[in-house]
Amino acid sequence: MKKILIFILSVLMVASLISCGSVSKHYDLDDEDSDLVVVGFSQPGAESAWRVALTDSVKDNFKEEKGYKLIYKDAQSKQDNQIRDIRTFIQQGVDYIVISPIVETGWDTVLSEAKAAGIPVIICDRNVVVSNESLYTAFVGSDFKAEGESAIAAMERLLANPETGEEQPVNIVHIQGTLGSSAQIGRTNALEHGLEDHKNWQVVYEDCGEFTKAKAREIMAAALEEVGAENIDLVYCENDEEAFGAMAAMNEAGVSYGNDSDIKVVSFDAVNTALIMCMNGQISVEVECNPLQGPYIYNLISHLEKGEIVPKITYVKEQSYTPEILTTDFIETRRY
Ligand code: AHR
Repeated sequence: MKKILIFILSVLMVASLISCGSVSKHYDLDDEDSDLVVVGFSQPGAESAWRVALTDSVKDNFKEEKGYKLIYKDAQSKQDNQIRDIRTFIQQGVDYIVISPIVETGWDTVLSEAKAAGIPVIICDRNVVVSNESLYTAFVGSDFKAEGESAIAAMERLLANPETGEEQPVNIVHIQGTLGSSAQIGRTNALEHGLEDHKNWQVVYEDCGEFTKAKAREIMAAALEEVGAENIDLVYCENDEEAFGAMAAMNEAGVSYGNDSDIKVVSFDAVNTALIMCMNGQISVEVECNPLQGPYIYNLISHLEKGEIVPKITYVKEQSYTPEILTTDFIETRRY
């Protein structure tokens, strides 16, 4: 009888511990994955084909057969969700955290928490602005300032009139990416410098398309309505989804665009669908934003695993394209 009583009491104690939350809810990494290096990857969302390519590139590189376990989280385009996801990684006790930050600011607290937990953080794709650079181990991603400058240089070549040398007015519709993201800041700043350098360039309509086709389509439709197609010379889209949206709005309104038309389209990313449109002259300038960052991140973490020092900043390789340099063969060899 005494034994039965002790057994019942033990069961009750365990049950009460569980209901009070005293039993650890941490991700149990020791069970089956004890030899695997665990990497938590926080993406801001899945707003573009480009971002899906980045996710795939990271997933392809951190596979179990290579000794890694990847935990992937999509923050549904909200910074609060991203911060919550990073806190979950910290609680789970992952070995590394990889973050593609939705915007540049607002990361100090959560990065300090990761640092206090001794978890190295790799920032990828877009950068962060923090009070102390030691809050993250390394950055791998795009040089958005260089991307923007490359677009402006291509626009200067496109808009120059070699016969007369005259500078005709250039009316620009500017569709911005997510405000506060490195991608938006670098590309917008470049356009602003372009406007300072070219007094004949002016923005006639500007709005934030959040890097999505749907928003950009609405913005372009509104611009056509308010400004009129005849008063638009160029649409500066801060990514390919936005270019697709702007072109959809022009198709709908029966407005022609492209290298042989009055309205030129400039875009960033250079995903394959956009490069085909560039080769066909529908898009005049495509500046590459390289999403194949998985191998770079893998390389960094492999070095860190060996206790080696890694570079603080690594920029991925990128270039820009105009119709005359593109071929089907080239586009077919690309992976995004
Ligand atoms: O940060 C990179 C940008 O984010 C890409 O240009 C865009 O397509 C993505 O959503």
